[in-house]
Amino acid sequence: LTGALALALSFAQPAAAITVGFAQVGSESGWRTSFSESVKAEAKRRGIDLKFSDAQQKQENQIKAVRSFVAQQVDAIMIAPVVETGWRPVLREARRADIPVVILDRNIRVKDPSMYLTRIASDFVEEGRRAAEWLMQETGGNCDILELQGTVGATAAIDRMKGFKEIIGEYPNAGIVRSQTGEFTRTKGKEVMEAMLKAEGGGEELCALWSHNDEMAIGAIQAIREAGLKPGEDILVVSVDGVPDYFKAMAEGTANATVELTPHLGGPAFDVIDRYLGGDRDIDKQITTTGDLYTQETAAEEYRKRTGG
Ligand code: AHR
Repeated sequence: LTGALALALSFAQPAAAITVGFAQVGSESGWRTSFSESVKAEAKRRGIDLKFSDAQQKQENQIKAVRSFVAQQVDAIMIAPVVETGWRPVLREARRADIPVVILDRNIRVKDPSMYLTRIASDFVEEGRRAAEWLMQETGGNCDILELQGTVGATAAIDRMKGFKEIIGEYPNAGIVRSQTGEFTRTKGKEVMEAMLKAEGGGEELCALWSHNDEMAIGAIQAIREAGLKPGEDILVVSVDGVPDYFKAMAEGTANATVELTPHLGGPAFDVIDRYLGGDRDIDKQITTTGDLYTQETAAEEYRKRTGG
């Protein structure tokens, strides 16, 4: 073939479809569901053969999924880890098979960063800081706070707690009076909030709920109501994610603020995988996404934008 003909033919051929395995955490929250849907839609749009695995919030299921992706000799693996520790053995197996691994959302703790290609995620510490800054401004730094933590050992829980504490530590009249995990789910958020309110004598002296995600906050709002208090007024509610149901709660006045976390991680992940498979080795180890803090002021409008209503 002459150079010109070969070039014309290469443009006429569709790029060979690649296969990517994705070990997802589960479907514990509205945010997580949007994240999964967004990855699936992006894979479809690009003609990628996506092997999707829902681990139901169990790391052992994720490890099994990654092993099966390695056995199937996929072109790349994406992991959204449930927890930070325990990843080394399976990452070594992927490396031995020469399969690049992209970490999405929560982090992993490994000494050797060459075990994975890159991590695409938000800065969870900063999310905690921004939630706390909003609350301290709103309350003048006088606030007894209940905290609903996310999954124990998950970066989103560890780092949000850290960022939030860092800021309220600057205010002598503010503090977390009770803190417990609600495992990032609505049901557990409600159940734990009920117990914490009871333990606090009904909750009348409390000022705010800081929840590590919107899903638990929505469950907790129900618990506050059932305890005879007004969520959003008697107890302020601040959280992270920015899911439509939470915007609705803010528009109705029962929630107060949230820091948005983008669920659209599929596009940047597939871009990086394409670049790597195409021979590019100059890939940043961390790709950070950002999100704004939203309050009741714009909630109705934001809800409409997100639901098309
Ligand atoms: O890891 C991110 C967190 O996981 C989201 O904030 C939460 O909704 C999800 O379960």
